[in-house]
Amino acid sequence: MNNIAEQIRQLCKEKNAIIMAHYYQRPEIQDVADFVGDSLALAQQASKTDADIIVMCGVHFMAETAKILCPDKKVLIPAPEAGCSLADSCKAEDLAAWKAMHPDHIVVSYVNTSAAVKALTDVVVTSSNALKIVKQLPEDKPILFGPDQNLGGYINRMTGRKMDLWNGGCHVHARFSEDALLALKAEYPNAPVLAHPECKASILQHADVIGSTQALLNYAKAHPEHKSFLVVTESGILHEMQKACPDVEFIPVPAEGGGCNECEYMRMCTLQNLRNCLLNENNEVTVNEEIAKDAIRPIQRMLEMS
Ligand code: 13P
Ligand code: SF4
Repeated sequence: MNNIAEQIRQLCKEKNAIIMAHYYQRPEIQDVADFVGDSLALAQQASKTDADIIVMCGVHFMAETAKILCPDKKVLIPAPEAGCSLADSCKAEDLAAWKAMHPDHIVVSYVNTSAAVKALTDVVVTSSNALKIVKQLPEDKPILFGPDQNLGGYINRMTGRKMDLWNGGCHVHARFSEDALLALKAEYPNAPVLAHPECKASILQHADVIGSTQALLNYAKAHPEHKSFLVVTESGILHEMQKACPDVEFIPVPAEGGGCNECEYMRMCTLQNLRNCLLNENNEVTVNEEIAKDAIRPIQRMLEMS
């Protein structure tokens, strides 16, 4: 462990702080964290921790979700400017207008949303429980689903529901190249394709496994008979995959034009800003009390239905 990582661990002990990190974080952040998980696991872990301080190494909506679940704890985010293009694609006032046009619909929102959007929502979902939760909703009730159109379209295809979809998406998952995927499939014909449901339908049609970061990782761990996998999600997940399966080759599928498949927001957290944030206890995340009161209900409903 390097010097900064040691300081971080020492500060956690002194302050009874827990570091949570998403799988898309830089490898050195995942290695220093107490807990690494997908969006659902981060929310579940936040709801049951007895630490006094939660440091969320992820993007802003993840820290907000932790704060809504733990209003009495101090929630810090090392990179407060770390947003999310998907969360930004749905503003609360626009969702309110959509809802007003469809007053009889159930509103299902992906966890990648602001607290204000969650406050207008009936049930929150993540990529690991969206299918399961939508299947539990009454069949005679129409649904508004947002903001990820690709995830919503995938659920519609899997369930036969005709949810109305918000036209939003993640800029990282939108740019994976089908041509590059097909070329890699030809090169590695025995490698299963692991894809995140935020990818376009043109990518998902080639996938052997579609799931959250945790589900993709679990599949690789449970199938040691495969010596290679093609991975179509943000490349941060490769760190944990490679650690869990050191003899397996994980091949990241590139973006259109050979571009990068990293989320710049997820990479904003560094060992330096994590250490400084813990040391100074700054970048505290707050959520307006009125909004938090309404936002906690759909999150708790999600945790119950997961
Ligand atoms: P999961 O880790 O829940 O699959 O989420 C992916 C994601 O886009 C997080 O921003
Ligand atoms: Fe948001 Fe996409 Fe980055 Fe996830 S990968 S945090 S959905 S922009």
